[in-house]
Amino acid sequence: MKEVILSRLMQNTGEFIPGEMLGAGLNVSRTAVWKCVRKLKNEGYVIMSSSRKGYRLVSTPDLLNVCEISNYLNTDYIGRQIKHFDIIDSTNSAARKSAEEGCPEGTVVTAESQTSGRGRLGRQWSSPGKLGIWMSVVLKPLITPEEVRVITLAASVAVVAGIKNTTGIKTGIKWPNDIILDNRKVCGILTEMNSEIERVNFLILGIGLNVNQEQGDFPPELHNKAISLKMHAQRRGMAEAGFKRSMIAAGILSELEINYKKVKAGDTDDIIAGWKLHSVTLGKKVGLIAKNIEYRGVATDITRGGKLVISCNDGITREIVSGEVSVKGIMEDPEADMNDN
Ligand code: BTN
Repeated sequence: MKEVILSRLMQNTGEFIPGEMLGAGLNVSRTAVWKCVRKLKNEGYVIMSSSRKGYRLVSTPDLLNVCEISNYLNTDYIGRQIKHFDIIDSTNSAARKSAEEGCPEGTVVTAESQTSGRGRLGRQWSSPGKLGIWMSVVLKPLITPEEVRVITLAASVAVVAGIKNTTGIKTGIKWPNDIILDNRKVCGILTEMNSEIERVNFLILGIGLNVNQEQGDFPPELHNKAISLKMHAQRRGMAEAGFKRSMIAAGILSELEINYKKVKAGDTDDIIAGWKLHSVTLGKKVGLIAKNIEYRGVATDITRGGKLVISCNDGITREIVSGEVSVKGIMEDPEADMNDN
């Protein structure tokens, strides 16, 4: 009911709507409408009330709820169902639960903050309240587990395009799917799957984008490694007040659906071309630890299946499927040594 009332107010922003009209067809009393408006006000919506004229929406808070995101969304099915939490352990865990319960493909879980946000390779993901976009998308592609990598690459290309379209900010991609801004990480993608050997049952695509944090909002160990869109913009004397997260989230989801449809249609060449266009890895000196052995070399290409090709300093060319690759100059510890040894 709250969503219906809010969307009616949003469709008529700036105008008074009588209480009976707000509740029309919902079979609720005027008191129930009033209670609902009070709830919305508590969430940060500024709504004027007049006993004669009804209710008028004056301004909306920056929340990642269904009404705010839908306002900007341009998709057929991704984000058409959104489960929004004020606080949750991890949106990936909640999305997994929804998928197990049979939610439709494209269901999105968003949260204003996460208490146990997860990153890749068992790391934690800092997810402070209302400062970033913490969201997970449920996908059900008819593919094998090996083909999942391309969907993750498609997601990183979508994030870059979504950020560019909504903020004008250009970001890059560090293999496999870290989104980089000013040589620091602005966004990470965690893909988790439920699969059999030959078939994926569902995928959870978790996206964590730092939007409105200041340097002090990050834990000290991330100060040299992480950045938000706002920090970048402030350095350039713009966006002092921060960015509208719901608009960026919708922009990313819209681009994600475009790329996901391409993957489903078998058009992976376009995704790989997009990834290469925004890559900050190719042509760079890289380091990699695999099975406790450290390799160094130059990243030369990415395969159609999304593997990173490294021409290693020992003369062997290797194709990397997973792991962490360090790239010279990006998110580097100032003490790190990336010599050619
Ligand atoms: C990475 O390590 O680069 C991936 C970080 C992914 C973080 C996002 S935030 C939303 C979703 N929920 C999680 O617990 N993790 C992902």
